[in-house]
Amino acid sequence: MTERKNVEQKTFIMIKPDAVARGLIAPIVQRFENTGLTIERLELGTVTPEQAAENYAEHEGKPFYPGLIEYITSGPVVKMVLSGPEAVMVCRKLMGATNPRDAAPGTIRGDFGLVVDANVVHGSDSPESALREIEIFFGD
Ligand SMILES: Nc1ncnc2c1ncn2[C@@H]1O[C@H](COP(=O)(O)OP(=O)(O)OP(=O)(O)O)[C@@H](O)[C@H]1O
Ligand SMILES: [Mg+2]
Repeated sequence: MTERKNVEQKTFIMIKPDAVARGLIAPIVQRFENTGLTIERLELGTVTPEQAAENYAEHEGKPFYPGLIEYITSGPVVKMVLSGPEAVMVCRKLMGATNPRDAAPGTIRGDFGLVVDANVVHGSDSPESALREIEIFFGD
């Protein structure tokens, strides 16, 4: 078996407006705490149109882009920075597939989501994305 290294990473997590509006902050934060990762920052806030455009620049021009920007800026979100061994991959696995319909039961999207347009949580997809997103949303 090849050795798997436990690289210390940071990741940026956001509980999206649909989940905050539905009163799901506590059970979702609980899932992240259960992993054993460290919550370094946790803040309620709103996403500005500028932050939304920067964060989702890779999707500009796609059919769902305008709806995505409208949705993510539509109400309060919870922004978090988590750290620990392989934090990026650990959180992506915990969140499940992008489309809640494809997300396995037991994952956050599988258990709390229904449609891809409002898929409950965001998590960085690489350590590099994480640093970029932490800069966008926490500015340090
Ligand atoms: N086909 C689609 N229709 C509607 N919305 C979509 C579609 N594909 C992606 N999205 C929205 O755009 C977001 C970003 O898509 P991406 O491919 O980066 O997925 P992800 O990395 O799993 O999600 P996120 O970046 O939010 O963590 C998705 O979370 C979803 O809200
Ligand atoms: Mg993504």
